[in-house]
Amino acid sequence: MNIIVVDNLAQAGQAGKDVFAKELNNGAKVFGLATGSTPISTYDAIGNSDLDFSDCISINLDEYVGLKSTDSQSYHYFMQKHLFDKKPFKKSYVPDGSNLDAAKATEDYEKIINQNPIDLQILGIGRNGHIGFNEPGTPFDSLTHEINLTESTIEANARFFENINDVPRKAYSMGIASIMGAKHILLEAFGTQKAEIIKAALEGPVTEDVPASVLQKHPNITVILDRDSAAQLNLN
Ligand code: GLP
Repeated sequence: MNIIVVDNLAQAGQAGKDVFAKELNNGAKVFGLATGSTPISTYDAIGNSDLDFSDCISINLDEYVGLKSTDSQSYHYFMQKHLFDKKPFKKSYVPDGSNLDAAKATEDYEKIINQNPIDLQILGIGRNGHIGFNEPGTPFDSLTHEINLTESTIEANARFFENINDVPRKAYSMGIASIMGAKHILLEAFGTQKAEIIKAALEGPVTEDVPASVLQKHPNITVILDRDSAAQLNLN
């Protein structure tokens, strides 16, 4: 596991962009993308770079169920605004939150992942250790599936909505096994509020109670942290 500790978000963005650039130069064609506030510095740095993804495919981790891609709270909309407007991909996939047939929506998405194996997957982490929307207790062998969001995740994400009652209660997410299939995973976390979960995920027991702890079993992980989120780690 390669852990990079940076001083501020500008440095984090550069470090994240450098990971993408290296993979792109090595011939990577499929990039797994994430939403949330965490990857924004990386997307901003990529947006301001001369990197070209017009020959690449992007596959996003998750989407709220019940939101159309044009809804300003949808993850599809988020990606358009924070990355795709500046850096278009040849083809970008986000789970179809407007398809209420969960079995069909999730099976179709897993097929897309199988047909386009992910070279680099960027991840944030929820305060309870979730990756994508895989809440604590999600089996490590899970594929793309529908999820009932926990109260803590609904509360954490309410800041993006006018009213907490507007936060969707369900999401489609790549499963843990779908995520672990990526050849290289870049985990990012910033701020004091992530310090405890980063310690548990990277140095605690590997357990389905902390979904991100599964990353300890992946052979190619890069982690970008700031000093606050890294504060509880035993770094030498
Ligand atoms: C959401 C997303 C996750 C993200 C998490 C943390 O739940 N589904 O992919 O990692 O939020 O968000 P933030 O980066 O804003 O802390």
